[in-house]
Amino acid sequence: MKIRVGFVGCGGIAQRHMEALFKNPNVALIAFCDIEIERAKRSAEKFGAEDAKVFDNAGSMFEKVELDAAFFCIPPYAHDAEMVAIEHNVPFFVEKPINLYLDQARKIASAVEKRKILTSVGYMNRYRKGVQIVKEVLREDPPILVLGGWISGTPKPSPETPIWRWWIRKEKSGGQFHEQVTHTVDLARFLCGEINEVCAYPAKGFNRNVPPEYNIEDASVVNVKFANGAIGSFWASCSANAGGGGVTLSIYANKTTALFTRWEHDLRLLRMNMEPLEVPGEPNIFEIEDNAFIDAIRLNDPSKILCTYMDGLKTMEVTIAANISMETGKPVKLPLP
Ligand SMILES: NC(=O)c1ccc[n+]([C@@H]2O[C@H](COP(=O)([O-])OP(=O)(O)OC[C@H]3O[C@@H](n4cnc5c(N)ncnc54)[C@H](O)[C@@H]3O)[C@@H](O)[C@H]2O)c1
Repeated sequence: MKIRVGFVGCGGIAQRHMEALFKNPNVALIAFCDIEIERAKRSAEKFGAEDAKVFDNAGSMFEKVELDAAFFCIPPYAHDAEMVAIEHNVPFFVEKPINLYLDQARKIASAVEKRKILTSVGYMNRYRKGVQIVKEVLREDPPILVLGGWISGTPKPSPETPIWRWWIRKEKSGGQFHEQVTHTVDLARFLCGEINEVCAYPAKGFNRNVPPEYNIEDASVVNVKFANGAIGSFWASCSANAGGGGVTLSIYANKTTALFTRWEHDLRLLRMNMEPLEVPGEPNIFEIEDNAFIDAIRLNDPSKILCTYMDGLKTMEVTIAANISMETGKPVKLPLP
């Protein structure tokens, strides 16, 4: 029996997951929902099983189609339908960040726990081989200094890239730190343990050729303290147009330096008295992440999933705390009340 999958949101990232799942012989993509129904129709034509159905609201999809799994690929402000998936006992995958509103995310998390729903959050970098190696090494040699983030150019909205409709609006995306650097924060938590304090600084007003609704930070720096005593600094910039930025995460311990670079998180691992180790990042990481979720459902083995909803909620708390700190100018302790 194939795992019957339905999608909520058929935009940019959903296409990557559909491509990955389409290749999996254990999966049938049978339902597609998007508030812009044309996008659902196009996805169904390209990836759908013979009798695939399309919807313009998630409630009808869960009501009318029996699903074994749902994929939520919607913007941070739009997470209203997870509760419906839970009511129908449907395991779900949700893209990062899991939400924009902490209250809503906490309600979803407690319903997930109560109903014992299998969940997976789209922090795909956790599945990388290089990341697994570093996690093992840092068990013996604890991290001390953690640095990383995402630096890119000024957003250029266009009708072909629907993401920009909401990405440049703080009240919809939560800003670059919450929406994008969430990957780095999550990986730092995965490798270095919990963060218990943040202090953030925003920079605004430098990006000038942007639409009037652009109101996110042009850059931010977020200093953090880890529970083990380590410290870190994360950064975001969407104002560096001359290049030289990119995605990085560097972790320094007494006898270990782990340097991750590029979106693929290529690893260069330096250890005292050992040859450097290079591990290229997997280009097909969405496939690896999605197959793990599907296998967890098929084999009833939750251990295949490396980030549950509850874990994703902890990462969300860090980036929301950073947003609070940017607003108040004060350090914020975690967990949030
Ligand atoms: N893991 C990654 O590397 C990665 C990469 C890109 C995006 N993302 C995340 O995925 C999410 C979606 O991003 P995207 O780039 O696909 O955005 P997008 O704007 O391209 O697509 C979002 C889609 O959701 C639809 N939508 C909005 N509200 C909806 C609702 N209530 N019900 C059904 N459909 C709805 C929109 O019409 C749109 O088609 C975001 O949280 C983003 O952070 C993750």
